[in-house]
Amino acid sequence: MSISISYKNSFSKKSSTNLVLFVDEKFNISGLKKHIQSIEYRFISDLIKTKDFKKKILIFDLSSKKKIILVSFNKDISSSDVENLGAKFYELIKNNTQTDYVVNSDTVSIKLNNIIGHFLHGLKLKSYLFEKYKTKKTKKNINIFVTGKNKPSLKDQIKFKSIEDGTFYTRDLVSEPGNVLHPDEYAKRLNTLKKVGLKVQIYDDKKLKRLGMNTLLGVGQGSARGSYLVTLEWKGLKDKSKPLAFVGKGVCFDTGGISLKPAKFMEDMTYDMAGSAVVVGLMKSLALRKAKVNAVGVVGLVENMPGGNAQRPGDIVKSYSGKTVEVLNTDAEGRLVLADALTYTEEKFKPKFIVDLATLTGAIIVSLGSEYAGLFSNDDKLSKQLINAGEDVEEKVWRMPLNKNFDKLIDSKNADMQNINYVGGAGSTTAAQFLQRFILNKTPWAHLDIAGMAFSKYGGALNSGGATGYGVRLLNKLIEDNYE
Ligand code: BES
Ligand code: MN
Ligand code: ZN
Repeated sequence: MSISISYKNSFSKKSSTNLVLFVDEKFNISGLKKHIQSIEYRFISDLIKTKDFKKKILIFDLSSKKKIILVSFNKDISSSDVENLGAKFYELIKNNTQTDYVVNSDTVSIKLNNIIGHFLHGLKLKSYLFEKYKTKKTKKNINIFVTGKNKPSLKDQIKFKSIEDGTFYTRDLVSEPGNVLHPDEYAKRLNTLKKVGLKVQIYDDKKLKRLGMNTLLGVGQGSARGSYLVTLEWKGLKDKSKPLAFVGKGVCFDTGGISLKPAKFMEDMTYDMAGSAVVVGLMKSLALRKAKVNAVGVVGLVENMPGGNAQRPGDIVKSYSGKTVEVLNTDAEGRLVLADALTYTEEKFKPKFIVDLATLTGAIIVSLGSEYAGLFSNDDKLSKQLINAGEDVEEKVWRMPLNKNFDKLIDSKNADMQNINYVGGAGSTTAAQFLQRFILNKTPWAHLDIAGMAFSKYGGALNSGGATGYGVRLLNKLIEDNYE
């Protein structure tokens, strides 16, 4: 399935192409008179009485070839409502035999910034399918021609397109199975992002060993594949201002290691690299839209496997920070990967803030399901900014506590700390509390536990199931609203 969006200066009223027109919440069509043929106008005014206005999108079949589709916007509609309507529009037309649609932006009477851009954005995001491994692919191409004065400016077209490309790149990475996107392949793919203008640096096992990133390396040591830390830098500002840093968990497959997971649903652990994929997709979007910001993405790429060389429960390892960790459960591996990645990011880049993303705990799914990511942070301002950005783009976060009283749960007898809490309870918080110990210089930091958000079995408003790309739009919005 592919959607192509192009912009036309004008089109003929007599054209037999499907037509998309916008009306207010009362489906008042009088303003449409000048945009359609009078016979079409009479046809619609007669039939509209029979329709259910609650549906928001009404379809009129004028002939076997031509439909007129009315989309209704409330006067207080939000940009995310508009995106959801775009997605709903896609659902309604995706199986039609006709594939061409003219969208007349002159019929929009609601004052909302970039309303057509948001409509098309929702449509496009919803249309994503991962068909790489289907021998029979959906061959359909849908062509959208946008006309009229309210079409998005060139700058906005580029902005929306770059977010779509970044989100789709994230979804592609997350959708790849573990046998294809193992750490070696992942690192190789990231290297190709040089072509969009990112500076890419890859640290392999040898370099990581030299740097002392032993908590990250310990997770990957049972795998036949390598372990990596990859940094992606975007310099959108001429000055040397501090970058914004994004850190992602990239466990390409999480078997649990020697603390092996049960068979049922273990296949889901192919999406345990989603945090890293969001960081990568975001960095790609920033580069594509030439964002006026300095930013760096850091991802830890490993595969968590059992085997003769695998890490054992009880092993004690020294992290990059110098702090020692007793690995009581090899399935609590994400925090071990992030520990080294966080300290390194803070020390090397001295960022304005660090946001990390990880499918870190099953417990966050118990708390928040698939509506909110868990937010844990040492900084109220950054938290507020994330909460607001999340509301705006409908990628919501809910703040959860960090508190020194949780520390006793991860203090260890034999090392500085242990990687799980044996008392039980507060699983997501103890994981976050563990991460916090690796921020050494009080840098504003937020951790997003996206275990419930990265993958959807049923599909959501702007995705059709599978990898959601959750986080790319959230972080892009955070940057756009507060740091550009
Ligand atoms: N990758 C998992 C968390 C996860 C679970 C993500 C379900 C997505 C869906 C993580 O590495 C893990 O195994 N966490 C353990 C931690 C426990 C051993 C303290 C968990 O949540 O059970
Ligand atoms: Mn695990
Ligand atoms: Zn994991």
